[in-house]
Amino acid sequence: MNSAEIRQQFLDFFASKQHQVVPSAPLVVKDDPTLMFINSGMAPFKDYFLGNKPAPYKRVADTQKCLRVSGKHNDLEEVGYDTYHHTMFEMLGNWSFGDYFKKEALAWSWELLTEVYKLPKDRLYVSVFQGDESENLPMDQEAFDIWKGMISEDRILMGNKKDNFWEMGDTGPCGPCSEIHVDLRTDEERAAVDGKSLVNNDHPQVVEIWNNVFMEFNRLADSSLVKLPAQHVDTGMGFERLCMAIQGKRSNYDTDVFQPLIQFIAKEAGVTYGEHEKVDIAIRVMADHIRAIAFAITDGQLPSNNKAGYVIRRILRRAVRYSFTFLNFKKPFLYKLAEVLADQMANVFPELKQQLGFVQRVIEEEENAFLRTLENGLKRLDALEAKFKENNNTIDGKTAFELYDTFGFPLDLTALIAREKGLAVDEAGFGVEMEQQKNRSRNASASEQTDWVIVQPDIVNEFIGYDSDASDSHVVRYRQVKTKAKSEYHIILDKTPFYAESGGQVGDTGYLISDSEQIEVIDTKKENDLILHITTKLPQNLEAGFRSEIDKARRDFIRKNHSATHLLHSALRKVLGDHVQQRGSLVNEKILRFDFSHFAKVTDEQLREVEQIVNERIRQAIPLGESRNVPIAEAKEMGATALFGEKYGEFVRVITFDKEYSVELCGGTHVFNTGHIGYFKIVAESSVAAGVRRIEAVTAQAADDFMQQQVNELNAVREVLNTQSNVSGAVQKLQDDNKLLQKQLEQFELKQVNSLKDTLAQRVQQLNGINLIAEKVEVSNADYLKKLAFDLRQVVDNLVLVLAAEIEGKPQIAVMLSDNLVSDKKLNANQLVRELAKEIQGGGGGQPFYATAGGKNVAGLQAVPAKAVELVKSIING
Ligand code: ALA
Repeated sequence: MNSAEIRQQFLDFFASKQHQVVPSAPLVVKDDPTLMFINSGMAPFKDYFLGNKPAPYKRVADTQKCLRVSGKHNDLEEVGYDTYHHTMFEMLGNWSFGDYFKKEALAWSWELLTEVYKLPKDRLYVSVFQGDESENLPMDQEAFDIWKGMISEDRILMGNKKDNFWEMGDTGPCGPCSEIHVDLRTDEERAAVDGKSLVNNDHPQVVEIWNNVFMEFNRLADSSLVKLPAQHVDTGMGFERLCMAIQGKRSNYDTDVFQPLIQFIAKEAGVTYGEHEKVDIAIRVMADHIRAIAFAITDGQLPSNNKAGYVIRRILRRAVRYSFTFLNFKKPFLYKLAEVLADQMANVFPELKQQLGFVQRVIEEEENAFLRTLENGLKRLDALEAKFKENNNTIDGKTAFELYDTFGFPLDLTALIAREKGLAVDEAGFGVEMEQQKNRSRNASASEQTDWVIVQPDIVNEFIGYDSDASDSHVVRYRQVKTKAKSEYHIILDKTPFYAESGGQVGDTGYLISDSEQIEVIDTKKENDLILHITTKLPQNLEAGFRSEIDKARRDFIRKNHSATHLLHSALRKVLGDHVQQRGSLVNEKILRFDFSHFAKVTDEQLREVEQIVNERIRQAIPLGESRNVPIAEAKEMGATALFGEKYGEFVRVITFDKEYSVELCGGTHVFNTGHIGYFKIVAESSVAAGVRRIEAVTAQAADDFMQQQVNELNAVREVLNTQSNVSGAVQKLQDDNKLLQKQLEQFELKQVNSLKDTLAQRVQQLNGINLIAEKVEVSNADYLKKLAFDLRQVVDNLVLVLAAEIEGKPQIAVMLSDNLVSDKKLNANQLVRELAKEIQGGGGGQPFYATAGGKNVAGLQAVPAKAVELVKSIING
């Protein structure tokens, strides 16, 4: 059975058990501050478990793209070394939201594995939670009894909290779980060692394939457990491991999920997979990491310098580092792999293929940049080699850390290069530096968050801000968040006009007003679907009714900018082409910023055309078309633009400004008529990443202000130039005049240098057959000083020349010797200049016949000529 069939059978099986099959959510998490990437199949459904939101279906099944590279679930360092951990993997899952529980879940998992996939029962083991006294949790007798009806008792293992109590993160939904493990060893191996003893023991062929979690609890910030409002089932089966088990392979990488990638890498590298341990690890790292990188970019996460973007950058660098070191790829290569992957995944995750060109460009650019960094790091290591040799043949911890932090060299790469050079690395010293950095960032970002304090039992948090700017509201819950710098409250209201930051639009600000007080809302953010009103104090009376009012004027600016963003998006597609896709946006009360895929600078003419189209649409005063709760399929039929990496529910909101011009899926707030935007003006165009351009623009009053400022500037120039017309002609003339003057000045100065040369040539002092000139001179730049020295060398033989000059406020010395003196008299310009530079508190160097020095002490120049005479005398006499 190939992997596509295995995946399909899973989905078909649960569909036959009345599960709704849903698509994978994007890998990148947008509205949950506790999570950067989806790390398990259940993450997109967190709100249903917590009871924050009703689930649209009671039974759901899917294959979910997951990434375990940060936070509680992080497998990154294992990847490549073993054969069954991955950064990105697919998790097959079935869910019951308050519907069926242990009996059905376990029976179905057994049925699917043994009857549909036909895995031999004598290769399977199951585990059950043994209970935990510290948590006051009993053994999961119910699961044990259910298993006993299906599998012999000696195949049921008891597991502790670490293995059999699953938690999503430090807080959140959790519960006891029951795992299914498979033993894929040969019959001889199985006869020799009992498989049971290898379960949960990191054996590559005795691995967990499926986890059935019985979600019953919520872990609170104080680490206590409270019962969830209902009991749920959350299961997760590692798709790649399942393929290994069904296809009878000894490694996930030997299945058809990875083989196309592996074969491609091996061929391009000119090696064979399976012959050398180090080479194999590197190939596995690449085959694995390309999946994480390509899908993260596809789902909207560009590599960058912080947060989720940095995680992706680090994964990419890890892949490049292994391929650079062990496969000898010195040029970008990973990006080529993206195509192999896209073809392979086209039927299940077509989004990669649809964006392939863009994804490849981003990867290639990152690879190029990192390869340059690697080269620089290697150069730095070379440059410091002598220092390391003196340091007991050891690379000190500080340097190893600098290489890690600045050049992206992890410790093992530094150690590898060190070994080649016969050096050691101070690993303990590196550890100290690393720990210090961690402490620094921990202290900077540490925040403490209390659990929700429930004021009203029902959580309704209805958003009414599309229709109203104010409402009567009650507090339903709140919590406190403390960082070193500040203390804030997150307040949830039953009804609110406040728009929570999302889809690029900033959150509203405003007030909660009661009879006795007025609380300022400084921002509004989202946590999944909860709308958090951020305040610096709590209402005195939490039970009181409030009038919640947004800052209406600010919202009006925001809505103008948001609607203008839609008009801009369509105009860009018209002017530049259909490849233009939104890659990010920011809409606030001052500006709109729109990032989009496009491969070249947008020319001034194109920008002008885009502006014209948008302003034309504004003048047409197109009324807003807003449809809420449109089934997603219908919205797509209307031609609505959906964004990659955006998680859309089944029902969406569609914003239309002329159905022939702009139709977008959007949750933001908009003008009721494009005429309200007034005027649109682009203020900047730039590049943000490979293949991503950024346009910044202003609207309405801000656009007017911008234009007025430009006019004021122009008027000021007119006034200075004293001209009303042809301002650019007048400026051009000024520039031409300036150039001419510059030229004349240069000629004049050259003449001066020449005459200075003649004067100096007359001032020769005779010293044992040496013609010594040592003078303080006046020249305007270093080039003239050099010219003077070289010119004198042409006309005076046996020359020792020392010139001291103040140039642009700084002291400089130049020493020039005739060649014969360098060889005969043991004179050396380098040594002379260094000695003389002491007078000006400086240093320098050059070649034996010509050297220069700069310094700090201008007054010291005076003493240089006399000192030069002494110095030369003592050398030739000594
Ligand atoms: N949520 C469970 C896991 O990720 C199924 O293992």
